Amino acid sequence: MSKTYTVAILGATGAVGHELLELLESRHFPLAELKLLASPRSAGQTLAFKGENIAVEAVDENSFNNVDILLASAGGSTSQAWAHKAVDAGAVVIDNSSAFRMNPDVPLVVPEVNPDAVAKHKGIIANPNCTTILMAVAIYPLHQVKKIQRIVAATYQSASGAGAKAMAEVQAQASAILMGEKPPTDIFPYPLAFNLFPHNTPLNDMGYCEEEMKMVNETRKIFAAPDIRVTATCVRVPVLRAHSEAINLEFAEPFSAHEAREILNKAPGVKLVEDWQANYFPMPVDATGCDEVLVGRIREDISHPCGLELWLCGDQIRKGAALNAVQIAELLVEKNIVKPAPAIASR
Ligand code: A2P
Repeated sequence: MSKTYTVAILGATGAVGHELLELLESRHFPLAELKLLASPRSAGQTLAFKGENIAVEAVDENSFNNVDILLASAGGSTSQAWAHKAVDAGAVVIDNSSAFRMNPDVPLVVPEVNPDAVAKHKGIIANPNCTTILMAVAIYPLHQVKKIQRIVAATYQSASGAGAKAMAEVQAQASAILMGEKPPTDIFPYPLAFNLFPHNTPLNDMGYCEEEMKMVNETRKIFAAPDIRVTATCVRVPVLRAHSEAINLEFAEPFSAHEAREILNKAPGVKLVEDWQANYFPMPVDATGCDEVLVGRIREDISHPCGLELWLCGDQIRKGAALNAVQIAELLVEKNIVKPAPAIASR
C-alpha cells in the first residue's frame, strides 16, 4: 500500500485555508487524516471535505501530535507562535506567512523554479509572497536562457491578498457606495471599491513598502541570484481575487519577443494568453480559479535594446498561496523526505 500522511491546516477557515482543502481533495493528496485548525473563534465549526464534515479545532499544544505535514496559513504571528512547536512534534511545516522566508535555514520554494531546495529543509519550508510567486513562475524560464539583470515590476493586487474578511469588505464597500452610504473600512485603511491605493504595508527608510521589499529579497533568494536588481511598486486594486503585474526585464543582450513567447509557451505553470487582433490579454477574471499564471503582451521594450515587457495575471489564493504550498507538500512526498532533519538552528 502506498504511504499516506496526516496533514493539518492551520488557518483552515481563511481564504487560503478553504483553497487548501479543495486542492488536497482535487489533487488526491495521499491523506491518512486531515486536521483543521484555527483560532478559538472557529472551534466547533465544520468544513466539508470529501463529502464529510470535519470539525475545526482551536490550535493548542496538542494539535500537532502525529501530524506529518502542517500547512500554515494563519498570519505571521500565528506561525511564529506555533511553527516550532509543530516541528518539535515531528511535523514538516509549509508556512505561507512571511515569518521565516528570509531565514537562511528555511528553503523558500516555488516548485517550478527551485524544487530541489525542499531537500534542505530543517523542519520549515516557506511559501513565498504571492506576487513574488506569480512573477517567478513567469520570468524564471527566460532567466534560464539569458540571465535577467534587472526587474522593474508594478503590481495590481486584489483584495484576496488581505484575506477573506478583506474580500467581504470590498463587496460591502461597493454596495455602500452604490447606495450613497459611507463605505466600511474595518480591514483596509481606505475604501478600495471604486478606488486604489499603494500597498499599505510599513514603509522603510528608502520609501519602499514591505510588500515591495518581499519582491526584491524573495526573488533573489528563490533564483539564488543575490545580485539581481529588482524594484517594485505595489498597488492594491478593487479586484476581488487574482493579482496582475506589469513586468519590465533587462537582459545583458537583446531578447526577442518571439523567442520569449516560444519559451513561455512551453514553460511549466505558465499559460500564454495573447490575441493581438482582439486586444485580448490576461485579466484577473480569467485567472481566477486557474492553476497557471496567465502571461501576455510580451513585447520588446522600445526604450532599451535589451529590455522586454510582459503582463501577467495569477490567482493569488491558488498559485500565489495554496497551490504552491500543496505542490511543495507533493514534492516532499515524491522525494520521500517528509520527516524533518535535526531541529532548525536559529529561531
Ligand atoms: P479564524 O477564522 O478562527 O479567525 P484570512 O487570511 O482569510 O483572514 O484567514 C486567516 C486564518 O487564520 C483563519 O482561518 C483564522 O481563523 C486563522 N487565525 C487567525 N488568527 C489565529 C490565531 N491566533 N490562532 C489560530 N488561527 C488563527
